[in-house]
Amino acid sequence: MIDKIRNDFDRIALHDQQGWNHNNHYHRFLLKQLPAKCKTVLEIGCGTGEFSRLLAQYADKVVAIDLSPNMIEVAKQRSRNYQNIDFQVADILQWNFPVEQFEAIASIATVHYLPLENLLPSLKTALKYGGKLVILDLLEHENLQDMLSDLIAVPLNWLLQIIRNRHIHQSPEAAEAIKEHLRTDKYLTLSQAQQIYLNTLKKAKIRKHLFWRYSVIWEKSAMV
Ligand SMILES: C[S@@+](CC[C@H](N)C(=O)[O-])C[C@H]1O[C@@H](n2cnc3c(N)ncnc32)[C@H](O)[C@@H]1O
Repeated sequence: MIDKIRNDFDRIALHDQQGWNHNNHYHRFLLKQLPAKCKTVLEIGCGTGEFSRLLAQYADKVVAIDLSPNMIEVAKQRSRNYQNIDFQVADILQWNFPVEQFEAIASIATVHYLPLENLLPSLKTALKYGGKLVILDLLEHENLQDMLSDLIAVPLNWLLQIIRNRHIHQSPEAAEAIKEHLRTDKYLTLSQAQQIYLNTLKKAKIRKHLFWRYSVIWEKSAMV
């Protein structure tokens, strides 16, 4: 499975075009959750580094990890003006997490590829006391309320695509690469997410958002 994910994103990276999407729509919200002062921040699944570059304006140093060599290549090309981002090609599940190293750990649209029960304890250990975990990921429908939120999300998505992504013309190769990837993508429902996160991260704030997303914000208090 990990090989398929790597290959899919190596392929998707070749066609990446910068524009509005359901993930960067939440960048400002996610940045607001960070501690006031960050020396070192870890980003998991940085992709082309769009959020890493925003983090780099808040933190002294950003360690940005991605499984896909092509994603990291694009991220490095687009981040030439940033001296404080350490882009690394790595499978986060094999990564050697340092202990109490980061003021924040962020991850966008990535944790659905990862076994959270195994990963969350490592993230907890790697955060400094007072550090924040900031996650945004994709959400599966589970009830009528979720479907009703589509009544807002679907036309708003359509409108924002027209307004913000006018300049983007997706090639058939790009569409095919994304279609192939989505064939195997699987997401948690909100209740599954709540159960998993709250099991390891007491008092985590788990919120559903428009555009089929949820966020998890958790602070490692001195009492943990
Ligand atoms: C949907 S993309 C999101 C990229 C970026 N965070 C964004 O918001 O645009 C998911 C990223 O997670 C990376 N990824 C998936 N599994 C990973 C793993 N085990 N270790 C590190 N990165 C991983 C993929 O290579 C891909 O670039």
